Amino acid sequence: METTRKDIQFLLNDRLISIDFQEHPGLKPTTTVLNYLRALPGFKGVKEGCAEGDCGACTVVTAEIAEGRLVYKTIDSCLVFLPMLHGKQLLTVEHLADGNSLHPVQQAMLEHNGSQCGYCTPGVVMSLFGLYKNSHNPSRPVINDALTGNLCRCTGYRPIADAAADCCSGNGKDQFTSAEQMTLEVLGKIQSDRRQIEITTDRQLYLKPMTLSDALSARLRVPEAVIISGSTDVALRQTKKKELLTALLDLSSIEELCTIIADEHQYWIGAGVTIEQLRKFSHDHLPALAQMLSVFGSLQIRNLATIGGNVGSASPIGDVLPLLFACRASLRLQSASVERTIAISDFITGYRTTCLKNDELITGIVLPKPADDVFIRSYKVSKRKDLDISTVSAGFMLKLNQGRVADLVLAFGGMAATTACASETEAFLRGKPWDEPTVAKAMEILENEFRPLSDARAGATYRTLVSKNLLMKFYVESTAQEV
Ligand SMILES: Cc1cc2nc3c(=O)[nH]c(=O)nc-3n(C[C@H](O)[C@H](O)[C@H](O)COP(=O)(O)OP(=O)(O)OC[C@H]3O[C@@H](n4cnc5c(N)ncnc54)[C@H](O)[C@@H]3O)c2cc1C
Ligand code: FES
Ligand code: FES
Repeated sequence: METTRKDIQFLLNDRLISIDFQEHPGLKPTTTVLNYLRALPGFKGVKEGCAEGDCGACTVVTAEIAEGRLVYKTIDSCLVFLPMLHGKQLLTVEHLADGNSLHPVQQAMLEHNGSQCGYCTPGVVMSLFGLYKNSHNPSRPVINDALTGNLCRCTGYRPIADAAADCCSGNGKDQFTSAEQMTLEVLGKIQSDRRQIEITTDRQLYLKPMTLSDALSARLRVPEAVIISGSTDVALRQTKKKELLTALLDLSSIEELCTIIADEHQYWIGAGVTIEQLRKFSHDHLPALAQMLSVFGSLQIRNLATIGGNVGSASPIGDVLPLLFACRASLRLQSASVERTIAISDFITGYRTTCLKNDELITGIVLPKPADDVFIRSYKVSKRKDLDISTVSAGFMLKLNQGRVADLVLAFGGMAATTACASETEAFLRGKPWDEPTVAKAMEILENEFRPLSDARAGATYRTLVSKNLLMKFYVESTAQEV
């Protein structure tokens, strides 16, 4: 047997699809799932609205094996490269009606008049289908969250939300439940082949290792390959900038990178942990992070995007970064021969640049468990609450000793070319009483600490004002809770 494989396999509903890219010249390894589907006969339900993850018209559902069962996820098919489907089941709006009757989700949309022009409807239906498979009697906030990534310009959301509440109040069973055992068997068989997938075409090389050790070897062998985890950042280079990505290293199938481990002192968060997985985990363990992640993109984005990708992109408005700074997290970087740990603040070296070496991968984040007497908060200010990127974001940590500041981190996003700490303000506050007059003075120092940009999102003056107000908000919230 060859040591690598060159084809990918997935289920299109109940049909096993095998693609060897050399035999399908019309397909590239970077063909998106959206474009693949639209080129197939009978799959025009999936729509392109924006090709950048904002509208949800392209929403599909994937099912994959996790802990022995099938997990259903809504995703934006415009951001997913075809090989990322390997070992999964792909479901589209065409698969929902079983030939005789509509799926309960479709029936509810019909009964509640959830569609007008219909452009958004297949995507909306697939988001409701994802909800149907994951929630029983969801609350309105849960329903709203499931629909955050779907833009509807004519129906309005009330009928759609009513349809969601209606269809999710039943027993949650459907034809996919009946077929679950068979689906598990087929996907399990595909996944049992742990060989790296290596797709070579005239102009592209796509490497998809299944193990960390293969990924590190691939990184050493092809250092120029663009690393992807969820591809929510990288895919835009193709869909928006029309760049040909000539070499890719896809880490999305490496289970070792997808674990969260808690011990007495710290959390280990694998680089491949998705933002949605982390949001659910942090709900009980680190509420300040959960608060931030609940306004991160949409469910479709959070199901794809990873924490490793958020850190790796080193964006000044990456939403996880300020809180990682506030918690003094560190990163584990690994090459085939060396492993090192580096403080998150040392990892980012400039605007979207890091000190990652060209044979290294980020394998995980080490997050010290905050002590009980530490107060932590994160804030995101954006033009709209949902599915927007930050104008200013912040992660703050405070420890008091007899009413005085014993330890403090004030980390901001959107105020400089990188996530940055307000070190002069921190220095001023250390050792001082934590009271309103002192915080008001600290706000004056903060006013001159950064020179933020003015751009389409906000002016520099607004950003500065927001940063000062966030500090006061933090103070007020800290006094409402005994620190
Ligand atoms: C519609 C939309 C909404 C968004 N909303 C938000 C938001 O609210 N907040 C926010 O912060 N971001 C947001 N983003 C940006 C993006 O989703 C996040 O930055 C996400 O966490 C990136 O993760 P990923 O796994 O998709 O990264 P990828 O696109 O796979 O990779 C991003 C970068 O990280 C590098 N990388 C990935 N994994 C590793 C690794 N293991 N080792 C080394 N380098 C690695 C890649 O090479 C690349 O440079 C949004 C994006 C879209 C399209
Ligand atoms: S086409 Fe708009 S999210 Fe994919
Ligand atoms: S029904 Fe027209 S955009 Fe939603």
